[in-house]
Amino acid sequence: MKLHTKQLPFGWLTNLQTIPKLLLLSATLLLPLTFIFFCSNKSFLLLPYPSSSRIISDSNTSSSILEIDRECDISRGEWVQDSDAPYYTNMTCWTIQEHQNCIKYGRPDMGFLKWKWRPNGCELVHFDPTQFLEVVRGKSLAFVGDSLARNQMQSLMCLLSKVEYPKDISNATDENFKRMLYSSCNFTISIFWSPFLVKSEDPNDQTTLWTLYLDEPDEAWSTKIDDLDYIIISDGNWFSRPSMFYENKKLVGCHFCQVPNVTDLTLHYSHRVAFRTALKAINRLPNFKGMVMLRTLSPSHFENGEWNNGGNCVRTKPFRGNETKMEEMEFKLYRAQVEEFEKAKTEGLKRGLEFRMMDTTQAMLLRPDGHPSRYGHRAHENVTLYNDCVHWCLPGPVDVWNDFLFHVLRL
Ligand SMILES: *[C@@H]1O[C@H](CO)[C@@H](O)[C@H](O)[C@H]1NC(C)=O
Ligand SMILES: *[C@@H]1O[C@H](CO)[C@@H](O)[C@H](O)[C@H]1NC(C)=O
Ligand SMILES: *[C@@H]1O[C@H](CO)[C@@H](O)[C@H](O)[C@H]1NC(C)=O
Ligand SMILES: *[C@@H]1O[C@H](CO)[C@@H](O)[C@H](O)[C@H]1NC(C)=O
Ligand SMILES: *[C@@H]1O[C@H](CO)[C@@H](O)[C@H](O)[C@H]1NC(C)=O
Ligand SMILES: *[C@@H]1O[C@H](CO)[C@@H](O)[C@H](O)[C@H]1NC(C)=O
Ligand SMILES: *[C@@H]1O[C@H](CO)[C@@H](O)[C@H](O)[C@H]1NC(C)=O
Repeated sequence: MKLHTKQLPFGWLTNLQTIPKLLLLSATLLLPLTFIFFCSNKSFLLLPYPSSSRIISDSNTSSSILEIDRECDISRGEWVQDSDAPYYTNMTCWTIQEHQNCIKYGRPDMGFLKWKWRPNGCELVHFDPTQFLEVVRGKSLAFVGDSLARNQMQSLMCLLSKVEYPKDISNATDENFKRMLYSSCNFTISIFWSPFLVKSEDPNDQTTLWTLYLDEPDEAWSTKIDDLDYIIISDGNWFSRPSMFYENKKLVGCHFCQVPNVTDLTLHYSHRVAFRTALKAINRLPNFKGMVMLRTLSPSHFENGEWNNGGNCVRTKPFRGNETKMEEMEFKLYRAQVEEFEKAKTEGLKRGLEFRMMDTTQAMLLRPDGHPSRYGHRAHENVTLYNDCVHWCLPGPVDVWNDFLFHVLRL
């Protein structure tokens, strides 16, 4: 079975790295300043929106707030050159995880940083940290999912770092859950580690297979989101791991288990059912009143092999839309996410819940040049186990996920 070779090395990054102590210190130092300059004055939100074409600088945002184009489909477009990018570097942002700190680990070409996403027929407003913090003042945002959820969270923290670093207010006893506070705006970002979204058990001494309880949401997040304002589901790649599927506590099938009399239902089955279960669980939370967002499947870009046999991603430029096509397996996963999300949205609407899609898949499909390749995973130990063509360099094209977030939050 071919799919097995797509199993991805996500065990790399199981837990959130501790935010450097420096960061805490800086948050304390910056706090009074940021409060005065960025968060105490809401009046600029009341200004009429001018029709100028881009935000010029952070110090002068009040005169350049851009209206978002609600009719525009931001998910389809092309990457165009942007000489102003990047908007942060590894020198200005301290929260880049080693695995994604590509420039630090010697990535020689910088051209991949000089692009922006231009949707067909409109401009995507570039992330503005000051305005973002105004929009989310007093709110709580949670990322739920795998290491790509963390990739987006770290991008968000870097984009916000021009204004403020957060303070870690996590419960130290809970490694799968972190919470960061932007004190000046009382905005929190949380992350819940849940790579299958549903209850799961690791392989153990008896088996090399994961156990997935496809109809039981992972309580690590599902019991803790009641009072949150925004949830971003960000998941998908772990389903390629060989696993046994349980529903109603009974074995119903597997993915690549090669066990006699157990039907191989493939990862498409577990992935779809897990998404359905997770979204249903949210819709059934009696006290949840937040907004649910889905950051759709993040394509990988191994060429000349898979992750475990020398595959790599060495391109230095984006594709044009007509130069590539998603591989079928990833397309099916993407489609299942969109379908399950749309179904859940219909259900959620009945009780007044908002579901908004951040469909970044096509944009990222066109960025084979955005992954760490050998300048990431364990490069700091001078060991390259795999070429990482799954996660995304920071800074890099993944920053567009937060442009999407900024857009979607204001719809
Ligand atoms: C903002 O920047 C623009 C263009 O640089 C300038 O014309 C304008 O005067 C600035 N506004 C403020 C309030 O500084
Ligand atoms: C940032 O990247 C440069 C290489 O461009 C490297 O020399 C430096 O150590 C890095 N700094 C940090 C803080 O990551
Ligand atoms: C901060 O926001 C939380 C909700 O996220 C709210 O419960 C709390 O009262 C707020 N604190 C302040 C000081 O406004
Ligand atoms: C921290 O975690 C422990 C153990 O899971 C739990 O008992 C406690 O209530 C948590 N505290 C907070 C403030 O979440
Ligand atoms: C598989 O099913 C067949 C027919 O039901 C049965 O004869 C056989 O013993 C089963 N094998 C195992 C390993 O359970
Ligand atoms: C893709 O489109 C561009 C611009 O329209 C064109 O210049 C290019 O030749 C096309 N490439 C392919 C492979 O069709
Ligand atoms: C990293 O490993 C390579 C090959 O094993 C070696 O040539 C090089 O000197 C090492 N670099 C450092 C900084 O240790």
